[in-house]
Amino acid sequence: MAIILGLESSCDETAAAIVRSDRTILSHALAGQEDHHRAFGGVVPEIAARAHVELMTPLVEAALADAGLKLDDVDAIAATAGPGLIGGVMVGLVTAKALAMASGKPLIAVNHLEGHALSPRLIDPDLAFPYLLLLVSGGHCQLLRVNNVGDYTRLATTIDDAVGEAFDKTAKILELGFPGGPAVERAAALGNARNVPLPRPLKGADEPHFSFAGLKSAVLRAHETGQYKIEDIAASFQQAVIDCLYDRITYTLDRIDPPAALVVAGGVAANLPIRDMLETLAGNRGMRFVAPPLWLCTDNGVMIAWAGAERFAMGLTDGLDFVARPRWPLDPEAAPARGAGVKA
Ligand code: KG4
Ligand code: ZN
Repeated sequence: MAIILGLESSCDETAAAIVRSDRTILSHALAGQEDHHRAFGGVVPEIAARAHVELMTPLVEAALADAGLKLDDVDAIAATAGPGLIGGVMVGLVTAKALAMASGKPLIAVNHLEGHALSPRLIDPDLAFPYLLLLVSGGHCQLLRVNNVGDYTRLATTIDDAVGEAFDKTAKILELGFPGGPAVERAAALGNARNVPLPRPLKGADEPHFSFAGLKSAVLRAHETGQYKIEDIAASFQQAVIDCLYDRITYTLDRIDPPAALVVAGGVAANLPIRDMLETLAGNRGMRFVAPPLWLCTDNGVMIAWAGAERFAMGLTDGLDFVARPRWPLDPEAAPARGAGVKA
């Protein structure tokens, strides 16, 4: 049984966790940086990188202490090596390299998106490959067929904003605070989703992709009229996102041989109305629905340690010369999607 230490530092969460290959989480240390970034209304990359430097070593020490382990007891050290804010990614990756070198244990360079993508398999041992994954985070909105560890087929992506980005920008427009996603969800629960007319970008389009930039602009225009309650705008926005996701996933499902399970991962997967919609959609299609628990949806070290465990089991380790990557698509073969802001 392998014991893997996993480090995460690609955005504004610093985290270290230890996971065993039998799916036991031995420890889980995480420090959010909201207080560092709140005054700026968003994550400031340079501030994030400096905070990771301060937080990472104490978190590694805490993860080892909580698990009752020494570095020597660990079989491999995994770290997010991209994609993400490059200064932060380098902090976690360099820390992992130093630990690997000091202990003589192998390094595993983990794609952050693969951390999200495989995290449902940590919780659900019956979740077999292939599965259909909706990956929705601050930087991505993609529909992927997860064929195996390290083997993904991108079926759809956003042509402009990521869905989490749309939540964050909506929160900023509505002055709901930071971080934006949970704030919009809370406000939406108090509003009426039918009160504000908002568009459903690309709904019914004869292409599989997503788009959210127009929705965010429509939120701004609706807010500027001064006619609508904040809660109603939030609820109407969230409903528009749900309708778009439903329409786009259905488009793809109508055109593929659907795998047995629909899986959601990434920070936006913490949104309960979105999860409810996906569960209904999966049920209608005779598919199983799998979602990680809420704490495992947003960035954390456990998902990186688990992806490390999956890769370690396949003999996939990396050299200490592995270079941090600001961009790193899960499916490098995917054709570029139209749109200026496409990230992968
Ligand atoms: O995966 P994640 O923690 O970081 C990235 O890899 O991007 O995702 C963060 C994103 C943010 O945009 C945040 O606003 C969004 O996930 N998010 C949510 C919720 N919780 C986090 N969006 C909607 N509803 C939520 N409850
Ligand atoms: Zn993430």
